[in-house]
Amino acid sequence: MNASINYIELSKSVQRDANNRLKHLITLEGLSRDEIIELLDLAQLYVRRPGELPARDRSLSGHTVANLFFEPSTRTRVSFELAAMRLGADVVNLDMQTSSRVKGETVLDTIYTLQAMHADILVMRDSEPGLPAHVAQHVAPHINILNAGEAHVSHPTQGLLDTLTIRQHKPDIKNISILIVGDLMHSRVARSTWSALTTLGIGEVRIAGPEHLLPPANEFYGAIRYTDVNKAIKDVDVVMTLRIQKERMASAHIPDDNAYCREFGLTSARVKLARPDAIVMHPAPMNRGVEITDEVADGKQSVIQQQVTNGVAIRMAVLTQLSRKN
Ligand code: NCD
Repeated sequence: MNASINYIELSKSVQRDANNRLKHLITLEGLSRDEIIELLDLAQLYVRRPGELPARDRSLSGHTVANLFFEPSTRTRVSFELAAMRLGADVVNLDMQTSSRVKGETVLDTIYTLQAMHADILVMRDSEPGLPAHVAQHVAPHINILNAGEAHVSHPTQGLLDTLTIRQHKPDIKNISILIVGDLMHSRVARSTWSALTTLGIGEVRIAGPEHLLPPANEFYGAIRYTDVNKAIKDVDVVMTLRIQKERMASAHIPDDNAYCREFGLTSARVKLARPDAIVMHPAPMNRGVEITDEVADGKQSVIQQQVTNGVAIRMAVLTQLSRKN
């Protein structure tokens, strides 16, 4: 898993053009504080309250967005689709179960096919680390690649939407402390959210989980590591829990659901140990009764639905920003 560092270096270099402008969004590593704040500020303009009509403009008029999800997705895929439609783009969603990849076509051939049909913004999710950077090196210069989830390595738009959600509740990011708890080892969300928060100078990051699900020591630099969640959660401002990603684990390492909930799950009693105004986050999909109880997921401190709402706004901001050709 340490090899993920090399993919990050490659992604950092290929995502910028000759003028150092962001052309693709593959990783949040290497983005400056100003670049992140600009994206958050733009996204904030697209946020609407529940019940209001969603924001719309024509900034993607004439563009064609293709969504290629080679791994399951509900929120990310639908929010990219809605974001592109609300910006006036044509949108195609490839059904990867019936696409030619299952007949043996390479990903690059699928990409060239879409390029030949004038799709110019390609959103992709895949379980293979390094694939978005590889594709970015091979597409025509006018194409933008957006990483919508790359193995355990990176999920930049989720990192941004988490950061936007935190900033809405805790604007003084430099003076807050966050606990990220659970399966950090396999979590692209935790890596990208940590990256954005660190660039913004967050006060303190704590990570907690079973030893074998904590990331290698050379990752999450500066974070305080815990295996006892009751200690880790004490007085934090933000608690983010993660799904146990069984699909990325050998069966021998999959924890028992009940035992995991007892030791690491976010229960009401545990959340009371955080600050009284702490917010509770989860990127979803949730395993209720495992990493989070119903009471906490649906409770007053939960901002999980707000994360989903912010996801559309962030994707609108990223699409608008990257598709600006000058
Ligand atoms: C996450 C993902 O796919 O990485 N979900 C998401 O994008 N909201 C987290 C997960 O699958 O657990």
